[in-house]
Order: sequence, then structure tokens, then C-alpha cells
Amino acid sequence: MRVIRTRQEMVNSSEVLRQAGEKIAFIPTMGSLHAGHLSLMELAKGHSTKRVASIFVNPKQFNVQSDFDNYPSDEERDFALLRDVEVDLVFAPGREEIYPAGHETEVAVGELAARFEGTDRPGHFQGVATVVSILFNLVRPHVALFGEKDFQQVRIVERLVTDLGFPMEIVRAPLVRDSDGLALSSRNVRLSKEGRGRALQISKALYAVKECFSQGERDVEKMLAAGWALLNATDGVDVEYFEAVRERDLNPVKEIVGDEPYRILTAAYVDGVRLLDNIGL
Ligand code: PAJ
Repeated sequence: MRVIRTRQEMVNSSEVLRQAGEKIAFIPTMGSLHAGHLSLMELAKGHSTKRVASIFVNPKQFNVQSDFDNYPSDEERDFALLRDVEVDLVFAPGREEIYPAGHETEVAVGELAARFEGTDRPGHFQGVATVVSILFNLVRPHVALFGEKDFQQVRIVERLVTDLGFPMEIVRAPLVRDSDGLALSSRNVRLSKEGRGRALQISKALYAVKECFSQGERDVEKMLAAGWALLNATDGVDVEYFEAVRERDLNPVKEIVGDEPYRILTAAYVDGVRLLDNIGL
């Protein structure tokens, strides 16, 4: 596995692979890798002949400085994990390599970013769209993989690729959970033992809503009530949002109608840690 640190070397390596007829899959990450990330690397095998992962903790997508400062990082451990899943190239640039002095161009996002993580974390998705665009241009993959763990993010990236004409395909990867149901996240290490126990109510609430839907309920308020019953019964889980949306435009809905896909999206703070989760209906 080759480690690449500079823009120029990344551009050159991608060109060499393309010239050789390789099909490149790209998996962008912020490191601190866990089984959720690694599932994307595995899934990429079926979509490519060469796999490129990136590790870059993107300062532009953190709207709270302390969250950026506290973001866990262990490069050697991450490299070992990537080697185990046979990633071919890892792009791990320094900050100046992505944002050289004088950098001032950013990618604006639209309606898909106007709610949920977009309102709760101002500037977050503009930061994601900007770094993803830079990375796409340097790596020039045929396909890039994003996890449904960050459902709003994958919808925004799909929109970005269409709107800006990036000649590549986006593949969505299913959300990976721990055996107890907690959605895997790099931030979970910051939960206390008790906090982790309380955090389990989040996935339980999502499953309760889904169960309600499976039994034929289509009225969203009634479906969500099954989840709120669990969330309200637990102290120390501060819910930011818990809503049913249409996947296409992420608009909240009052009723589930027709065959198109819907999803329950939620974010909550436990021990001051922001946890995201969602479930498809
Ligand atoms: P990061 O949080 O490191 O996540 C990298 C990728 O792994 C994202 O596509 C995310 O959705 C996916 N992922 C994380 N946890 C997952 C889980 N439990 N199951 C499935 N997939 C999971 O998302 C980012 O980094 C950044 O915003 C990035 C796209 C790299 C831009 O900076």
C-alpha cells in the first residue's frame, strides 16, 4: 500500500492507473477508522480494480473548533487497517496541501443542505462539498463510495456530482452497527460507559418506528410517537431532530405514500457527543 502526501503525486498516480486501464474506486474518510469505514473499502472491491482511500480531517466542515481539536486520530493504526483490507493507495495530505495559502474558493450547497445537519451545523456541508470536490479532482476516480450513516451527506454528494458534472458514479454503502445496535462512529470513543448505554435508545427508537411502519401504520406522527416514547423515557439523550423524510429531497412528510423510499433521520447529543443515525422504511 502506497502512502501519498502531495497533490502532485496523487494526480500523477491516478493518471498512471488510468493509463493502465484500471478502474479506480475512491473512499474519502477523516481517519480514526472502524468497521463502518472498512465495509466501504470491502464494498469497493466489487466496483473497481484499484482502491484509493483518503484520510484528511477537514477543518472546513467543523463549525465548532473544539470538535475539530478533539477529533480522534491515529495514522499508523489507520494505515494498518487499510493494509489489512488491501487498499492500494492512501492519500493522507497535510492541511496546506488541500488548502494552500490563499485558498478562497468554496462550493455552495442548496436546499438539500438547508435542514438537519445543515441548520444545526452552519457551514458544515459547504465544507464537505468543497473538500470532496478538491479530492475528486485530485484522485479522479471512476466511482466513489459514501456511507448511508451520513444520509444527508450522501444525498448532497450525489447532487454535487450531477450538478457540477463530475464524470463518476456514487455508490451508497449500508450503515454498519455494533452488535448492540449503536451506529458505528469515530465519535463513539468519546462516550462514557453509561453514555453508551443511553445512546442505545437512539437505534431502539428507530427500530420501534420501523416496526410500527411494518405493521401497516402510515401516519408519520403516530409512527414517530413509538420512537419518542423511548427517547423521552431516557434522561441524557438530547434529541436535535427525529423526523421522517422522503429520500429524494429530504423533505419531512406527514404521511408515507406510494413506493418511493422514505427514511427516519435523527441526531442527538449524549455526553456532549453528537450522534447521527437513520433507518430506511
Ligand atoms: P468520515 O466520518 O470519516 O466517514 C467516511 C465515510 O465512512 C463516509 O462516507 C461515512 O458515511 C462512512 N461511514 C462512517 N460510519 C459509518 C457506518 N457506521 N456505516 C457505514 N458507513 C459509515 O464523512 C466523512 O468522513 C467526511 O465528511 C468526508 C466525506 C470524508 C469529507 O471530509
